[in-house]
Amino acid sequence: MSKPRLPGDLTPAQVIERMLRVDHAGEYGAKRIYDGQLAVLKTAPAAPTIRHMAEQELKHLAAFNKLLPQRRVRPTILGPLWHAAGFALGAATALLGEKAAMACTEAVEEVIDAHYTKQLETLEAMAAEGKAEPELAQMIEQFRAEEIEHRDTAREAGAAEAPAYPALSQGVKAATRAAIWLSERI
Ligand SMILES: [Fe+2]
Ligand SMILES: [Fe+2]
Repeated sequence: MSKPRLPGDLTPAQVIERMLRVDHAGEYGAKRIYDGQLAVLKTAPAAPTIRHMAEQELKHLAAFNKLLPQRRVRPTILGPLWHAAGFALGAATALLGEKAAMACTEAVEEVIDAHYTKQLETLEAMAAEGKAEPELAQMIEQFRAEEIEHRDTAREAGAAEAPAYPALSQGVKAATRAAIWLSERI
């Protein structure tokens, strides 16, 4: 009987390593996006909403900050890039207005929801092979639920009314997917 294959035929340890590396990078990027948004919109009506989401991202980031050294996983070398690019993305969209900032959040969180869902499927496949990671799975499930909340909050705040919404949304999604791809690998 052939064994179920892990993504790219990585070992279970390599799969977990990639997962932690990319999730840590992503939560750091999320923090920086909200930093950028708040730098521009600190007194705007949307500021408390953005601040609430930013606080949840800080908790997500803190969890991965703790897990990486525990599991001896090296963070991505792209940290400085996400530091700058995340902030720039947040600030640039916020400069287009609150709705554009929300369109950015909606687009990022849509991609992150899909990303965490895929990871949960991988963890399930690993559990079926006797390599269960119940604590990690539970954590990712909780974070995923909060990212979905962020996406919905952004939608309710009028993301779709942003200027050039389709192009903005597609662009942010493509950038987020590229950032994920890179952070898994380097
Ligand atoms: Fe997050
Ligand atoms: Fe989020």
